Amino acid sequence: MENFNFYSPTEFVFGKGRENEAGTYVKKYGGTKVLIHYGGQSAKKSGLLDRVIASLDKEGVPYVELGGVQPNPRDTLVYKGIDLARTENIDFILAVGGGSVIDSAKAIAMGVPYEGDFWDFYSGKSAAKALPVGTVLTIAAAGSEGSGDSVITKEDGMLKRGASSPAIRPRFSVMNPELTMTLPPYQTACGATDIMAHVFERYFTNTKEVEITDRLCEAVLATMVRETPRVIADPANYEARANIMWAGTVAHTNVVGVGRDQDWNSHGIEHELSALYDCAHGAGLAVIMPAWMEFVYKHDVMRFCQMAVRVFGCNMNYDDPESTAVAGIKAFRRFLHDIGMPVNFTELGAKVEDIPVLVEKFGLGDGQTGGFVKLSSTDVAEIYKIAANAKL
Ligand code: NZQ
Ligand code: ZN
Repeated sequence: MENFNFYSPTEFVFGKGRENEAGTYVKKYGGTKVLIHYGGQSAKKSGLLDRVIASLDKEGVPYVELGGVQPNPRDTLVYKGIDLARTENIDFILAVGGGSVIDSAKAIAMGVPYEGDFWDFYSGKSAAKALPVGTVLTIAAAGSEGSGDSVITKEDGMLKRGASSPAIRPRFSVMNPELTMTLPPYQTACGATDIMAHVFERYFTNTKEVEITDRLCEAVLATMVRETPRVIADPANYEARANIMWAGTVAHTNVVGVGRDQDWNSHGIEHELSALYDCAHGAGLAVIMPAWMEFVYKHDVMRFCQMAVRVFGCNMNYDDPESTAVAGIKAFRRFLHDIGMPVNFTELGAKVEDIPVLVEKFGLGDGQTGGFVKLSSTDVAEIYKIAANAKL
């Protein structure tokens, strides 16, 4: 195991009705004037926004609202949010929504105290400070409620890029699994896929002897394999929703990834799809992640066998371990299909003729990237091709 620091200071406020305490936690973490940031319609329609506002009123905390965050959140609304927060002397940002809303809130939080262009933080610079952020999570997916990351798309050129800083880890995150019951099945499945991908990006490692994090990864993955079909079949299943919601957070606070090298190439390769086609991040991952696995599994066949056996219940074929590794990847793709995810470019709405553009935007040039297996631009093109033509 490699040396590591683990810093996860977010207070998670989990369970039924807990959104009614949002105001209490804003106050606890020093908010005296709040920007409530939210998405399209879902938080308004469900009455969640009214309940959150009532909780702020109860604590006597004033607020202004900024809605309209799109999935794959854009820089244009972030600029608007920064201006609004400065004009209104906001000192706390409360995100009510999913990963897109939370990421947009984090971007505004970094931008307000910064004299330069907030996009600097999405071009390699780390933010030293940010306004405090709290969240009321409405979808189990991105893990942004417990992460120090934010992903924003620059409208000019549709560049999707990430920023990381301990300063944007939420002070608190309210997590009521009931709030996720209004999700359409497709969004539930996209979220489940993202959660599993966050674990896989950590699971496939060259670091030896990491039994504890291997087993934690497998626990999260096996939970997702069991619980996702249950909520697709019965959206109001509280216990299954609760297990998935906590799995989503555990998958991305890095508790399952410390002390081991990681490989985030599937995420990078996917981000170009959601940037170009504005598809859901999880749907893009459903197409890319198994294709990446098919491309790299020979690098460590036994690790893929471990996944196949422990996560998907495949039988180990000791005479032909490669067949077990391949069976595990097939089982993953079958699982994704069964929960309603696309498995190839056609089902996603992507075009094989765009592969050169996707590779160009990935921006590797003559370089290489990756933790488990280093990839060149040619390799990335090959993975897009496998994804384009994938079958069950
Ligand atoms: O805008 P509204 O009307 O709220 O609708 C949203 C949106 O259309 C809807 N939704 C959310 N909660 C709902 C609901 N509909 C009904 N009932 C509810 N309870 O779901 C749609 C998707 O929401 P979004 O926030 O986009 O989903 P998600 O949480 O998957 O976030 C995706 C974004 O997070 C980024 C992705 O790249 C993508 O931009 N990621 C962020 C990460 C991070 N910050 O750590 C890591 C991830 O790997 C990921 O890249
Ligand atoms: Zn993700």
